[in-house]
Amino acid sequence: MTDILYLISAICFIFALKGLSSADTAKSGNIYGIVGIVLACLGAYTSSCNLLYPLIAILLGGSIGIFISKRISMTQLPEMVAGFHSLVGLSALLIDSAAYFSPELFGIVNNNGDIYISSLIEIGLGIAIGAVTFTGSIIAFLKLKGVYKGQTINLVFNSFIGLIVILFLITFTITADIKYFYGLIIFSLLLGMTLIIPIGGADMPVVVSMLNSYSGWAASGIGFTLQNDLLIITGALVGASGAILSYIMCKSMNRSLIDVIFSYSQIVSDNKNIQNKSNKSYKKGAPEDAAFLLKNASSVIIVPGYGMATSQAQHSLKEMGDILKKEGVSVKYAIHPVAGRMPGHMNVLLAEANVPYDDVCELDEINNSFATCDVAYVIGANDVTNPAAKNDPTSSIYGMPILEVGKAKTVLVLKRSMGVGYAGLDNELFYAHNTMMLLGDAKKTTEAIIKSL
Ligand code: TAP
Repeated sequence: MTDILYLISAICFIFALKGLSSADTAKSGNIYGIVGIVLACLGAYTSSCNLLYPLIAILLGGSIGIFISKRISMTQLPEMVAGFHSLVGLSALLIDSAAYFSPELFGIVNNNGDIYISSLIEIGLGIAIGAVTFTGSIIAFLKLKGVYKGQTINLVFNSFIGLIVILFLITFTITADIKYFYGLIIFSLLLGMTLIIPIGGADMPVVVSMLNSYSGWAASGIGFTLQNDLLIITGALVGASGAILSYIMCKSMNRSLIDVIFSYSQIVSDNKNIQNKSNKSYKKGAPEDAAFLLKNASSVIIVPGYGMATSQAQHSLKEMGDILKKEGVSVKYAIHPVAGRMPGHMNVLLAEANVPYDDVCELDEINNSFATCDVAYVIGANDVTNPAAKNDPTSSIYGMPILEVGKAKTVLVLKRSMGVGYAGLDNELFYAHNTMMLLGDAKKTTEAIIKSL
């Protein structure tokens, strides 16, 4: 019964991933995921001889999960994900420690009572990956929550810690000695922290998906220790999809993974740029001016960013788009892969407001269209439109592809102030001759434009 439930559950997870890969099948993907996890819990339940413990674990874990998810807003999702990854790392660490201290219970000892060498390798790797995921995710959580900014750490220092972890891993698998076991835990915990502390703000999305991948491999490792096929499969799915997502995000930011992990200068340049307050002049407009420009345009491209999420302007935006369409204006939405604070953030919000999928375009699809469009409507987006990514080799976001909104005839920028975005950089776009700043909350400004229209 357990094996059958696990098999169906693993198939559900594969369908879940398949479904989640596109916006119009995401809902069914989610349902497959839910069915898969319920079957997995049932499988764990039927495989246990003492039914009370899994029941308590399922009820307790489920209630805490529901309680936390209900309180978390959309904008806090990345930090919640980072927090949850830390728990996967911690469980890998605890289960592998349990296997080391009570190997007979896990059936991993030979006739002399020694742990098999293959099991020692699994335990050692599980502990190293689990500990790095645990502390790394906690640091990522604190950084995403904004309570800790990070600091520079010398590359040589990190390489040194990495080398010590490898040495402890090798000596532990050869000797199974408790000294090396503790050494491996301590230095892996330290490495998790020192790896993530120096990574700069704009690279945090890649870090989160990288930790996602680590947590998958850690779960897969637990599967080997517990001889649980479902955990091996699920962990591998999460590990591989997280790695692919990290690769896709690096590609869309024009960076290599190695660059992200070892970009130790980033924090310094971010902080320097935050101080870089500018006194340049800019053009300020009113909602009525914007309404006039929009109504007389033949094509409008809307560029949403994190500010649309915080002001929850997606419904007003859709209403405005519908009014313009009725006037015969072509309206498209341009999505940058790292707009907002999590992969697909903008897609989710636009889907919530029932914006048709056909109107939503990816960066590569739409970037050439800005040159021929009348109005680019930049709503709460900043970094993803910053020309410094193309023009300024000293900028921390140099090399990241941007939505080239500056090429439009007129650029309307909706934000509350002339302040910086996530990467802490000033944006030349705001001072360009064809840009009009509409300062204020994005939702309120859009509503005022609708009124004018
Ligand atoms: P940001 O560069 O962060 O800019 C958002 C802008 O929205 C801010 O400049 C802010 O300006 C404005 N804003 C905030 N609240 C607003 C409101 N209520 N009404 C109007 N405007 C508001 O956003 P982006 O362009 O979407 O770029 C995303 C950044 O986040 C990138 O640097 C990316 O690397 C990073 N990041 C992305 C992710 C993922 S996976 N997407 C995860 C973590 C980090 P004011 O304060 O002046 O209003």
